Amino acid sequence: MILIDGKKAASELREELKKEVILLKEKYNKVPGLSVILIGEMAPSQIYVRNKEKSANEVGLKSEVIKYPDTVEEETILKKIKDLNHDENVSGILVQLPLPKHIDKQKVIETIIPSKDVDGFHPMNVGNLSSGYESSVPCTPLGCYLLIKKIEPNLNGKKAVIVGRSNLNGKPMTQLLLKENCTVTITHSKTKDLKAECLKADIIVAAVGIPELVKGDWVKKDAIVIDVGINKTERGLLGDVAFDEVSKVAKALTPVPGGVGPMTIACLLKNTIDCFKRSQN
Ligand code: GUN
Repeated sequence: MILIDGKKAASELREELKKEVILLKEKYNKVPGLSVILIGEMAPSQIYVRNKEKSANEVGLKSEVIKYPDTVEEETILKKIKDLNHDENVSGILVQLPLPKHIDKQKVIETIIPSKDVDGFHPMNVGNLSSGYESSVPCTPLGCYLLIKKIEPNLNGKKAVIVGRSNLNGKPMTQLLLKENCTVTITHSKTKDLKAECLKADIIVAAVGIPELVKGDWVKKDAIVIDVGINKTERGLLGDVAFDEVSKVAKALTPVPGGVGPMTIACLLKNTIDCFKRSQN
């Protein structure tokens, strides 16, 4: 069994990006910039954002975190986004989710100009991705995709089963694998006989947020299994895949933590650099 080392893959990707930033600096005499808006004091968001900033600096990007209290008015955030949209030193804008209830998430997402939408959440990017055109791609599914391609470069005709239909993961993951000529099935909470669906898969991507949902006898021998879940439980941090059981049948499996997580942040940096490059052309 191949234990897919997301930390190592992310570190390799960051090294590549670092070199690219040096070349871009030589060519354009400036470096890509990432602006992150963080609202409130939620601990997980604080940690994510700190990691994003640290990684951005590590590869030589300019980065700033703009913090607001959770009482901030929606209008203030929208105004800030509009300013960043026009700021030529800003290549990418990310508003850390979740947002306080009084702020309309969709309005925030749609205010970010699509060319700086490093999350790939803007309907324009969602549409372009599903039509197979150039777009920003959400960081987590992009990270999963790159890990899968490392194990299996040719995905032609493979059967992929996605567990979970979220806009953040399941749906964009589907588009990425379709583009690679996979036959993709999206499953969700109303799917009948999820086990039978999973057993058909050459590739399983589990992104539902149910601890250890995907069991050993749900997985075909030599399948590639990607675990997007991060579930806090009494037994500690668990993925959506029963790791011990599945590791006995799968060809390759991501651990939690240390699998998809580190790739997500590295892909955010990649998206920022890609937005910068598109803005220079
Ligand atoms: N919160 C948790 N994951 C994400 C993400 O990928 N993007 C944003 N903007 N917020 C998040």
